[in-house]
Amino acid sequence: MNKTLRHSYFIGNWKMNLGRAEAKELIKGELSELPGDSYRVVLAPPFLLMPLVSDLIGGSSLLLAGQNCYKELKGAFTGEISPLMLKEAGATYCIVGHSERREYFFETNDLVREKIVILLEQQIIPVLCVGETKEEREANRHFEKIKVQLSSVYDSLSKSERAKIIIAYEPIWAIGTGLTASSQQASEMHKFIRDWLASTYGDELAFGTSILYGGSVKKTNAKELFAKEDIDGFLVGGASLNAKDFLAVIVESGA
Ligand code: PGA
Repeated sequence: MNKTLRHSYFIGNWKMNLGRAEAKELIKGELSELPGDSYRVVLAPPFLLMPLVSDLIGGSSLLLAGQNCYKELKGAFTGEISPLMLKEAGATYCIVGHSERREYFFETNDLVREKIVILLEQQIIPVLCVGETKEEREANRHFEKIKVQLSSVYDSLSKSERAKIIIAYEPIWAIGTGLTASSQQASEMHKFIRDWLASTYGDELAFGTSILYGGSVKKTNAKELFAKEDIDGFLVGGASLNAKDFLAVIVESGA
């Protein structure tokens, strides 16, 4: 089945970057005039910028995502952000299990699953990040790693919940390093993920799930990666921090 039947996404993950003035600068102009019929463009700013970004993108086709959230709706969880707060700020998506969360903040597969469950309850679409380290790839354990990360989330969900998840394959060795997975390495893993979805849960889920690639995506590699059948868009870090670079990724991809 053709990839045009799935949604394509370009998600800009600002991580812990940009302030109010830079956010305003980035969003004004061309970025907010993107057509967005054949693809969706989503911005994931730091929490404190979310209300501002929500106002700035109002009336455009741009969409808002959280970079993370907690697994509870409210309570004594100092420093955490609830899915309810994301919703109130205008987010319709949330990145979950980014490798930086897993690596620096010790997020486990179990916690990632709990966050996904609560986001789905709140009608926020989770963008589930999976990826292997350089060592795991060198030891040929990359497929197994991804399968465990996926099954620990998918196994406990209902059919309709599974259908809402977006997957982002982000090899850890390619994030922020300037090293990109070759289009062959990326498409091989994307196909592995889609085949796993098909054999475990059926073709409908496999064909309908958007699987994004992330890891040093830029205008010079966007076209080749996006041309691959199983790559439905990108989760972009560094190249999403200014409008020119982010637009170039979208335009070059030919979406
Ligand atoms: P990068 O980050 O594009 O800067 O490699 C991608 C990501 O971490 O989502």
